[in-house]
Amino acid sequence: MAYAKTFISTLMSAISNCSLYSKDHISVDNLTKKSIAILNELLTDRDSLEIMIVEDNLVINKAPARNAGHHGSNLIKRLKRKGISRIDFLKGISYSELKQFIADLSDPEKKLKIYPHIKTGIIDVRIGGDSLASNLENLSSEQVARVKEIYHNIAPHKELNISGLEEIVVNFIVTFKREANILKLISPVKAYSEYTYTHATNVAILSMFQAESLGARDDLLHDIGIAALLHDVGKLFISKDILEKKGKLDKREWEEIKMHSLYGARYLARISGLTQLAAIAALEHHLRYDCKGYPQLNAGGKEQHFCSQIIATSDFFDALRSRRPYKRDWQIEVEEIVALMKENAGSEFNPFLVDNFSKTLLKALKKG
Ligand SMILES: [Fe+2]
Ligand SMILES: [Fe+2]
Repeated sequence: MAYAKTFISTLMSAISNCSLYSKDHISVDNLTKKSIAILNELLTDRDSLEIMIVEDNLVINKAPARNAGHHGSNLIKRLKRKGISRIDFLKGISYSELKQFIADLSDPEKKLKIYPHIKTGIIDVRIGGDSLASNLENLSSEQVARVKEIYHNIAPHKELNISGLEEIVVNFIVTFKREANILKLISPVKAYSEYTYTHATNVAILSMFQAESLGARDDLLHDIGIAALLHDVGKLFISKDILEKKGKLDKREWEEIKMHSLYGARYLARISGLTQLAAIAALEHHLRYDCKGYPQLNAGGKEQHFCSQIIATSDFFDALRSRRPYKRDWQIEVEEIVALMKENAGSEFNPFLVDNFSKTLLKALKKG
């Protein structure tokens, strides 16, 4: 992150000098050379450097860049003036491309061109207004609506909107910085038909919150969020009659529901550019810590991935919470779910995760 910030300050110095002097001034030339050297170094082990503006904050490679200084705010201003809120610098970028980009960005009259290794675009991420508390409800229903939109476009031969998912996850990370009480961030299920999207949103928030409290950052945190958003995607491939059946499911129907892990994993594994964690978590989120869940793929058994364990814990919490609409007392409800999770620690859930998650939840209850 520190080196990415150095890149931004060098780039911004080049841009300021370019507007002060000219594109061909020696200082612009030197700063462009320095910028491209830093950029190439940043791109040695990754394919792109992504810079986004999320509500006046810079987000670099999906992690919020705190204290990006006046160069950071300058970059935000310049990009906003051009109507863009996202730049991806891609591996293979050349000196002349970056120089042209610097010249175009420094001139308020010029429109940005199409550059082979610089992609610019708009992301539409809105987070509340002045008072976060009054906007949390709007924020959560907005997120659920976005998840719904993405889910509606999921079909075997359609392209999955990966960048839409990325934006949702980045939005969560930025929200965490402003609201530390996890219980305020999860959404109530307003209508039965919204359950799928509300559940996906909540499981993502709860999983990212757990993962962050355990030290996950940047790409890992982000990938866990995407995997959690998609953990039940396989349910889209199961008949609605079974999914929405009011009465008791018979054996065949229950076996069909259980197939959602496999259907989801199969669908997600075929999508290029998507984190592998998504298919893994879809496959394993009902496997259980003791491997006695489903699917039972081979006789030797396979241990559940740590990220799937995180998602399974969040899944349990959200499923219990939202399926008991008759419960009114939030405090008792959370305490009861925590007690149930503890009962199943070591069998269904990883005991270490249960301990950590319960502490987070009970702390949030105290905060009110
Ligand atoms: Fe599931
Ligand atoms: Fe689920």
